[in-house]
Amino acid sequence: MSAHAMAASPTGIASIGLHFPSLSMAVEELAQLRGQDPDKYTIGLGCEEMSICPPDTSVVELATEAARRALDRWGGSADRIGMIAVGTETAVDMSRPLSAWVADHLGLKGAIRSYEVKHACYGGTLAVRQAAEWRMSGAAGDQAALVVAADVAMYEEGDPGEPTQGAGGVAMLIDEPRIARIEPISYPWSEPHFDFWRPVGESYPRVDGQLSLDCYKRAAENCFKAMIGKRDPEAVLHELAAICFHVPFPKMVRKAFYRVGEFLDLNAERIDGFFQEKIYPTMLWNRLCGNAYTASLWISVAQALKGLAAGERVAAFSYGSGFGAELMMLEAGPEAAAGAWEQDVARDLAGRERIDAKGYSELRGAKS
Ligand code: CAA
Repeated sequence: MSAHAMAASPTGIASIGLHFPSLSMAVEELAQLRGQDPDKYTIGLGCEEMSICPPDTSVVELATEAARRALDRWGGSADRIGMIAVGTETAVDMSRPLSAWVADHLGLKGAIRSYEVKHACYGGTLAVRQAAEWRMSGAAGDQAALVVAADVAMYEEGDPGEPTQGAGGVAMLIDEPRIARIEPISYPWSEPHFDFWRPVGESYPRVDGQLSLDCYKRAAENCFKAMIGKRDPEAVLHELAAICFHVPFPKMVRKAFYRVGEFLDLNAERIDGFFQEKIYPTMLWNRLCGNAYTASLWISVAQALKGLAAGERVAAFSYGSGFGAELMMLEAGPEAAAGAWEQDVARDLAGRERIDAKGYSELRGAKS
């Protein structure tokens, strides 16, 4: 291959599309159904609403529509797409990748590497990293990658995880860094544990709740520790415009950031200050859609990037049970300020039909 073909390409997010299903339910409705104090869900877990799929919507529709929106906004030619990577833990087949359904619906075929990535909620981030590193290596030439993170999070009825449920999809074109440049260095951490898993053939996840909280916190601590290195932690955090996390439920993020802050020797007031200023606002859309597993971090990143001036930096912490985690750094590009993808959120989240406890029970009955 010529030296020219192997030249590294400027790499980042060139376009974003989001998609949420058409139903929602307030967690207070679920609390009533399960005989729980609603404060446990709203204050204890920090949850507000969950996005719910009607019977005719699956992860295929979420991934495909998010991808369609990202492609429309990208404006590039489909023959420049050399990779379709879909991160999900809602696989519809043990063999055929979800990317094949997306490609089929969007009419994409040809000299394309098309595959699915699985590592619980971390799968979407792995897909982003693979696409970015493919371009940074020079192997992609002028080609772009379509990356999708999409999931439907459903727990067994009555499971403690039920109030954290949600669904959604985020798609991104990894190409020129028009919305955000992806920094080449990232900070991974993994340890093998059974904190949350779904055995083959089972419909719902099994969870060791307390272990999953401990694993998430330890992963966050180690990733931030590596990112900050020997620098002054306050100065590093202060310099970031936003700090995004995977959001299984909002209180988890607060717990994890407290662990990071304590490790960095910050007092409670400073930790709270950073949390309120740089983290809580990034979870606005997550609080309305619930946990969308692989999409969860990227929903938060999409919210955080919207409105940033070019050059402002964002940290993005990904966690997937099992477990694998990675802290990525992004720098806003010229098209972040316009935040074109916000219209997807306005259309889908605001346009949802709200169901009550009775409607939810009927839906679950219909699904099981
Ligand atoms: N008013 C206010 N707060 C209340 C309350 C009330 N009436 N009753 C309880 N609470 C508080 C509790 O004190 C607790 O808060 P603290 O942890 O700050 O003390 C909080 O509400 C939750 O109460 P419990 O710990 O008793 O809740 P639980 O055990 O029933 O369920 C859970 C919590 C285990 C996290 C459960 O939601 C779950 O299994 N979730 C799925 C697993 C998960 O999300 N893990 C996160 C890390 S793993 C990951 O990130 C991957 C992923 O996406 C799943």
